[in-house]
Amino acid sequence: MATSPSAPLRVLTGITPSGTPHLGNYVGSIRHSVRQSVAPGVESFFFLADYHALIKVQEPALIQRSTLEIAASWLACGLDPDRVTFYRQSDVVEIPELTWFLTCVTGKGVLNRAHAYKAQLDKNIAKGEDPDADVTAGLFMYPVLMGADILMFNAHKVPVGRDQVQHIEMARDMAQRFNHQYGEHFTLPEAEIDDAVATLPGLDGRKMSKSYGNTIAMFAPRAQLQKQIASIVTDSRAPGEPKDTEGSALFQIYQAFATADETEALRKAYAEGIGWGDAKQMLFERIDLEVAPLRARYEALMNDPAEIERILLIGAEKARKLARPFMAELRHAVGLRNLAAGGGKAGARKAKVARPSFKQYRERDGLFYFKLLDAQGAALLQSRGFASPQEAGRAIAALQQQRGAALAAMADQLEPSGPEELRAANEALEALAEATAPTSGS
Ligand code: TRP
Repeated sequence: MATSPSAPLRVLTGITPSGTPHLGNYVGSIRHSVRQSVAPGVESFFFLADYHALIKVQEPALIQRSTLEIAASWLACGLDPDRVTFYRQSDVVEIPELTWFLTCVTGKGVLNRAHAYKAQLDKNIAKGEDPDADVTAGLFMYPVLMGADILMFNAHKVPVGRDQVQHIEMARDMAQRFNHQYGEHFTLPEAEIDDAVATLPGLDGRKMSKSYGNTIAMFAPRAQLQKQIASIVTDSRAPGEPKDTEGSALFQIYQAFATADETEALRKAYAEGIGWGDAKQMLFERIDLEVAPLRARYEALMNDPAEIERILLIGAEKARKLARPFMAELRHAVGLRNLAAGGGKAGARKAKVARPSFKQYRERDGLFYFKLLDAQGAALLQSRGFASPQEAGRAIAALQQQRGAALAAMADQLEPSGPEELRAANEALEALAEATAPTSGS
C-alpha cells in the first residue's frame, strides 16, 4: 500500500456487467478511472457489480460473459491489479451483510424517490398498469446495495455519471444515519463528475446507453467500428453546407477523443461544410488510433479467461482483508456480539435519548458547513459554505434562538429545501429548543 504522509484518497469505481462495454463506458468511466488510479496519493477500488447485474439480467450466460468482457476491458486499458484492488462484488460476501445493516437505517421513503425505481413506476402509471408492475424488490433496493459497495471500503470519491449522483447522495445519507446511531464508522462519500466526459451521446444523439440500443462497442473489430460510426444520425445537410457543432452527436464523440486543437480543426471543418461522410471517416480514424492498441490486449485477455479469474480471486482476497475486520467492527457496533464477552448487565449502558443536532464540518473546498440532523441522523438542513467556523457558528446560534423566523431570514445561507423539509426542520429546531431550555421553576 502507498505510504504517503497523509491518508490516501480512496476512489471506488463499479460497473454492472449487464452488457458488452461500449465507448460510453470507456469515455465516461473506464479511461478516466484507470488514469486516476496511477495518480500518487490515490488508492483505487475497481469492481464488477455482478449482484447489481442480477437486478436487470436473468440470463446467466450473459452475466458471465459480460463480467469477463468488462474485466478484460479494464485490464486492457491499463488497470494494474497489483496497484489497485480489483475484484468481483459477489466474491466479497461481506457486502450483502452490510447491505442488510444499511437497509435497517434507510428510510423506505428515501428509496421511493430513487430515480430508477420511480422511472419504472411512472412508466407503469402512464400505461395504466399497477404502479409496481415488474418492479422487483431488487430494483427497489438497488441504492442500498450500492451504498454497501461504497461504504464497505470507506471510499471518499466515487466517479459516476450524472444519473448515478443520487445514489451517492443516498449512500452518504445511509452513512450519516448509521454513524449517528452507532458512532463514526463510515466515511461520507462524494460523487465525482468530470463534466467534460460524463456522458457520451450514442448513435441517435441520446445518451449512449445499452438501454437505448444506441451504443458503439468498445472493442468491435475495425470494420465493425467503422460501420457503427457510419450509422451515427446526422442532419441532411449536403457537403459544402456549413454544419452545426451544437447538438451534433458526431462532434461530441469526436471531442471526447480528440485534443483541443483537433476539436478546433473539426469545428472549422463543420463551418466550412465538411461532408458527413468525411466527418465520419475522421471520427473513425481518431477513435481507432486510441482504441487499436487496447483492442489487441483485450483480444489476448479474452482468450485467457482463467487468467482473469485468477486475478479477480486475488483481488477478492485483498478486498476481504479490509471487509472482514470492518464487518466485525460493524457487527459489534450494532450489537451482534459474542454473548460471553462483556455485555450483560455491566455493559448495558443506557442509550442516550436521541434528539436533533447540528453537525459542523469542513469540506475539501476549505469552507465551513453545517447540517441540522433529525434524531435519526437524517439531514434536514444543509448550509452553504462559510469562510470561517465562527460565521457558521453564528448562523447556527441564530437558528437555535430564532428558529422558524431565522429559517426564513437565512434562506441565502442554506441550500434550498422543500416545504416538507422546512416544516421538519422547524419542528426539529423547536424540539431542540425545548430539550435544551432550562426547566422553568414553576
Ligand atoms: N450502479 C452503477 C451503474 O450501473 C454500478 C455500481 C454498482 C456502482 N455499485 C457501485 C458504481 C458503487 C459506483 C459505486 O453504473
